[in-house]
Amino acid sequence: MSRIYSRIVGTGSYLPAKLVTNDDLAKTMDTSDEWISARTGIRQRYIAEPDQTSSDLAFEAAKNALVSAGKSASDVDLILVATSTPDFVFPSTACLLQKKLGVHGCAAFDLQAVCSGFVYALATADKFIRSGQHKCALVVGAEVFSRILDWNDRGTAVLFGDGAGAVVLTADSTPGILGSVLHADGAYSDILSVPGNVCGGKVIGSPFLQMDGQAVFKFAVRVLDEAARETLDQCGLTIADIDWLIPHQANVRILEATAKRLGMDSSKVIITVDRHGNTSAASVPLALDVAVRDGRVRPGHKVMLEGVGGGFTWGAALVQM
Ligand code: UT7
Repeated sequence: MSRIYSRIVGTGSYLPAKLVTNDDLAKTMDTSDEWISARTGIRQRYIAEPDQTSSDLAFEAAKNALVSAGKSASDVDLILVATSTPDFVFPSTACLLQKKLGVHGCAAFDLQAVCSGFVYALATADKFIRSGQHKCALVVGAEVFSRILDWNDRGTAVLFGDGAGAVVLTADSTPGILGSVLHADGAYSDILSVPGNVCGGKVIGSPFLQMDGQAVFKFAVRVLDEAARETLDQCGLTIADIDWLIPHQANVRILEATAKRLGMDSSKVIITVDRHGNTSAASVPLALDVAVRDGRVRPGHKVMLEGVGGGFTWGAALVQM
């Protein structure tokens, strides 16, 4: 019997309509387009309407991915949503997405690995498909980080935006996901967190994102380098085999430093953070979808997807499109 692999057969993404530029932010807080652009590369972000939830954004991205895959929602037998900003405590955003897609019965669950969430979800879906028990997975990263930002904290509020990205992953006799690695180290939980919860009808702790920016920066560059190399080793490939590098879109300086450490030309790095800020679990599938649609990422290309974020969590997946 031939082996089962998984392949990405469609991509999709969605950004809310409301565009907020750096100059817009400078009207309400002590910041400037000059500071934000120079330190992060971010020029603008999109913010969901108050009644727009992660599952709404996920629904739009999922529909786009299904159309690009030539699949209908009824073909899907596994829905995985990576999010740290779910609609509710429960039911999961994946179940709410399933309802919006109008399908019933397939497995659906959320995965929480913050900005590594999509890479974690993709690696998980790959293993479900390789098991032979699932044939068509919808893997989504969807976030409304605008809800967990302290808009009085210029050190964090300017960095993030809302959005969603999705892929359709199907069983195939030739490999699409060539290899993947996942890691976490809870010892670093303090450097990026939303240290609050709901208890007895009240928020206990803080409902806002807090971060040691410089510690996160250094950690991210180191582990993005290590995860890419480990994944290549697993696949028996080298950096020269990578057509495109798509790391988590947090900061252009992190992306450039990662490419430099890997010895890759910066022209091989897909950068979209300038257009939508850090969208956490949505950032990698958003960037992949942009690069597929603008023709840079083409069938046969090898693409290194990388996540890093709160937990701390990190991981990579090498994908042949
Ligand atoms: O998914 C992972 C999420 N997190 C990240 O990716 C963040 C990683 N870290 C970073 O990207 C960078 O550390 C930041 C962009 C967050 C900060 O850049 P930095 O070069 O490390 O700046 P800094 O924190 O050292 O701050 C430098 C100065 C400070 O002023 P003083 O103390 O030098 O007078 C800050 O108060 O910049 C000030 N500052 C700002 N000024 C204008 C901080 N935020 C702002 C702002 N506008 N928005």
